[in-house]
Amino acid sequence: MFFYIVAITLIFVSTAVSEQLPQLKLPWGIWEGTPYSQDPNIYIFKNVRFGAKPERFSAPEFPDWTNDTIQENTDELSCFQITTKSLKNLPGGRIPLGDENTPVTETEDCLFLDLYVPVTAFAPGAPKLPVTIWIYGGAFAFGSKTQFGPLYTGQSPITAANYQTIFVAGNYRVGAFGWLAGSYMERVAQPNAGLYDQALLFEWVQEYIGLVGGDNMQVSAWGESAGASSILHHLIRNDGTHDPLFQTFFAQSPGFEWAWDNSPGGKLDQTFSSFSKLADCGEGYNISCLREAEVEKVQAANQELFTVIRQTGLFPVGPAVDGNWVKSIPAVAFSQNKTWQGIQSAIISHCANEAFLFLPQGVDSQEKVDEFVSEFLRGPDLAPQRDAIRQQYDCEKDFAANFTNCIREVVQDLCFTCNTRNLFDSYPEISYMMEYAFPLPALAVHASDLIPLFANNKAEAVTLLELSGVEPWQAQLYGEMLTSYITPTYQNYLASFALAGDPNALPFNPSLIWPVADGSEDKLSNVLRVQAPLGQQPFVLASDDENSKSKCEFWTNLAQSIDGGADGTSSNQKIFLNQVQGHLIDL
Ligand SMILES: *[C@@H]1O[C@H](CO)[C@@H](O)[C@H](O)[C@H]1NC(C)=O
Ligand SMILES: *[C@@H]1O[C@H](CO)[C@@H](O)[C@H](O)[C@H]1NC(C)=O
Ligand SMILES: *[C@@H]1O[C@H](CO)[C@@H](O)[C@H](O)[C@H]1NC(C)=O
Ligand SMILES: *[C@@H]1O[C@H](CO)[C@@H](O)[C@H](O)[C@H]1NC(C)=O
Repeated sequence: MFFYIVAITLIFVSTAVSEQLPQLKLPWGIWEGTPYSQDPNIYIFKNVRFGAKPERFSAPEFPDWTNDTIQENTDELSCFQITTKSLKNLPGGRIPLGDENTPVTETEDCLFLDLYVPVTAFAPGAPKLPVTIWIYGGAFAFGSKTQFGPLYTGQSPITAANYQTIFVAGNYRVGAFGWLAGSYMERVAQPNAGLYDQALLFEWVQEYIGLVGGDNMQVSAWGESAGASSILHHLIRNDGTHDPLFQTFFAQSPGFEWAWDNSPGGKLDQTFSSFSKLADCGEGYNISCLREAEVEKVQAANQELFTVIRQTGLFPVGPAVDGNWVKSIPAVAFSQNKTWQGIQSAIISHCANEAFLFLPQGVDSQEKVDEFVSEFLRGPDLAPQRDAIRQQYDCEKDFAANFTNCIREVVQDLCFTCNTRNLFDSYPEISYMMEYAFPLPALAVHASDLIPLFANNKAEAVTLLELSGVEPWQAQLYGEMLTSYITPTYQNYLASFALAGDPNALPFNPSLIWPVADGSEDKLSNVLRVQAPLGQQPFVLASDDENSKSKCEFWTNLAQSIDGGADGTSSNQKIFLNQVQGHLIDL
């Protein structure tokens, strides 16, 4: 009996010692990792500060103070969000995948990250691990490092990678807090502040990931929607001359709306002015007033901005041309190969029905299509461009007068799939392309491809499918199919990519080797298509109808015609107008 007690005590003591919590010692504080509730083989370092509280509308910085005490665990911290429920034209689609009831503390002091590290990384002599950084989506208006349930947690990527990778998810400012731009902001503050928050996160990884066993020479940036198009913007930073501090990337459904008019009094300045008025700082330009205002007032104005500005409802704010980081509409930079050349490999994907959730309701005539297009391309100067779109997308002829389908194609090509084509064309030798068409092309809506990436089991998949708008009984069926036939392989391809920059490297016997896509024809081929195993294989190589060269060249030409980038607008505009007029004469 006595012997037993001694033995038990010894075991107790030894586990207590071996479970001493790992510490991350940053200059500005110490954070402790705790066993992740869902998987004790992972430590989570929660709410690690990577930036000081940013001055409102300014670029962020690392904290400039030192502190050598352990920092308390806090509630979930996020930047200020807009709530989408009250809005008519929801940015980010009709059903953003997430739950506004997830409890978070919204604050301007929001530059925190969550860090997931395999327990084995702390063993003596453990090899350095590659690092995956997650940039969330949310139309540049909402979203945070933890969204809902398993979304954006490191559990599935780390378990699929057999505990050989580290996963980091960090916050960046959204809405007006992160994305005001225009000529006035360029003079007095920081346009595209959200991109700078992300850049600080990437710098943090360079400086400090080694403290938890990470390898800062093997960094992969992953993101979806606004997150993926953020990654796209890191690749064209300063016309592609600025190291983005990652070597590989996974861009899922990169989506954003062109925002190029940073002329004095132009569209971007007008958005600033509307916002200023809503915050009771007048329609003029007074950054001091906005900076001194109570945060509640600024947040209320941020929310209100999304109801009052006339927009398509896609992405009311977001990355914008600023003469510095973003020199031109990205399509222009891509067409001139002004992209970062240090990328080693990429996975670029889109959903088969990207635009469905974004469509305005009740578009039943050419007039309504035109109205939608002119929200985006306003003013008499852009009439030729609007005409060109009307000719390229002939709703009567090519869409049998189904105007909803017509507009869906415009939005899909312009805001989503041509971004994937532009990325491919910049990295044609090293890009693995994917089209997510599960369970059926029509049901593969924007953000549905997050489910196989983050779901750890059937119950989580079913919940997320229901959130994405699938009927409960169908969610059961598709959740079963997804977790049995799709998720294991999908996660293994991605894990393999995280570890080796190659989706086929991990020894998991994929039934299909996924090659780099073939861009020699108009349509990309050797594209990995993911679909329901209903009389077909769940993973096949196919050609992609949605991002053909000819479709996307149209948009590149259009971008050049309105924003010539470094080459100057006016000459490009003339060339384009000649093309349009030529086309008119053909007709
Ligand atoms: C260091 O951090 C602790 C915990 O957050 C805090 O209570 C303390 O005031 C900080 N010390 C200094 C010198 O700022
Ligand atoms: C700008 O706002 C500040 C702070 O509210 C105020 O003191 C100042 O008078 C304003 N400037 C102008 C030119 O209105
Ligand atoms: C851009 O790079 C691709 C691939 O390296 C090349 O095929 C293409 O000709 C280049 N385009 C321009 C405009 O330089
Ligand atoms: C347009 O096509 C979609 C399917 O592609 C269909 O659901 C819808 O009812 C059609 N709309 C009209 C007005 O015919």
